Amino acid sequence: MFPSRHFIGIETLSREELLEILSLGAKYRLLLDQDDKNLTDLKNCTVANLFFENSTRTRFSFELAERRLGATVINFNNESSSSAKGETVLDTIKNLEVMKIDMVVIRHTLSGICNMLSRSVQASIINAGEGTHEHPTQALLDVLSLQQHFNEFKGLSVGIIGDILHSRVARSLVFALRLLGANVHLIGPKTLLPAHFERFGVTLHHQLDPILPELDATVSLRIQMERMESGYLPSLIEFHKAYGIDERRIGKMKSHAIIMHPGPVNRGVELSHYAVDSEKSIILDQVTNGVAVRMAVLKMIYEFRSSSL
Ligand code: CP
Repeated sequence: MFPSRHFIGIETLSREELLEILSLGAKYRLLLDQDDKNLTDLKNCTVANLFFENSTRTRFSFELAERRLGATVINFNNESSSSAKGETVLDTIKNLEVMKIDMVVIRHTLSGICNMLSRSVQASIINAGEGTHEHPTQALLDVLSLQQHFNEFKGLSVGIIGDILHSRVARSLVFALRLLGANVHLIGPKTLLPAHFERFGVTLHHQLDPILPELDATVSLRIQMERMESGYLPSLIEFHKAYGIDERRIGKMKSHAIIMHPGPVNRGVELSHYAVDSEKSIILDQVTNGVAVRMAVLKMIYEFRSSSL
């Protein structure tokens, strides 16, 4: 049973709850590989997708997941909605609520907005990436992809590379991997890898090359170009030299090691063209798993709501 009518982060999940979501996600992944992919489980449910920040993978995979489960779906366009006239997010959702929506999938730049909304509305709030806080469904698809590849997490060494400081993806993934018992290595320059991350039970590295041969999987994070102007990085070329995965570094990885990235990839920065398209890359498989885990989250929240009526 899902622990709440909202899904805001991995941090508050138990290991059993996380495994239950992954198990349902794995079942939906099998369904996605069949010709008939469509169910009617959420036929009485209306979901509003509110993306206040750009998105390709998360937005479309949530919408596909909702439609695959038979939900009624409405999409919000930030530029053409009344939020462009100054309406608050809370007022927007309260207006949608009286039109009888059940769930809100939200992406926003503000850390903490999902928690605030969850205390003020009846609809379920699902975090689709919030500020620098968490991106929980990204972590779910990442760990489902790892599970499909390696079967278990005990003894698995995963390196998360790049801008850890500003990454909601890194935070959610660290919580998920630690719950599942994997060894987590955070790798990046001192400006983007603060020492306080050690409290999450991970190992910090400021150089990639010494630890790379030990890793079973690398997860490179997208470098946000605006960080360049803020003085966090000397240049993208320097970053690629120190932390980019390319053909030379692939040669130093374990033979079974895999390359992951949440997308969108800056080709030539976090990963070379060769690395993105190499046999070790499971980046597109991660995207397919995104639909499956989002179906699992929607279904489990729907069941929680139905059981608490
Ligand atoms: N990984 C991810 O969140 O991608 P989008 O920004 O395209 O949704």
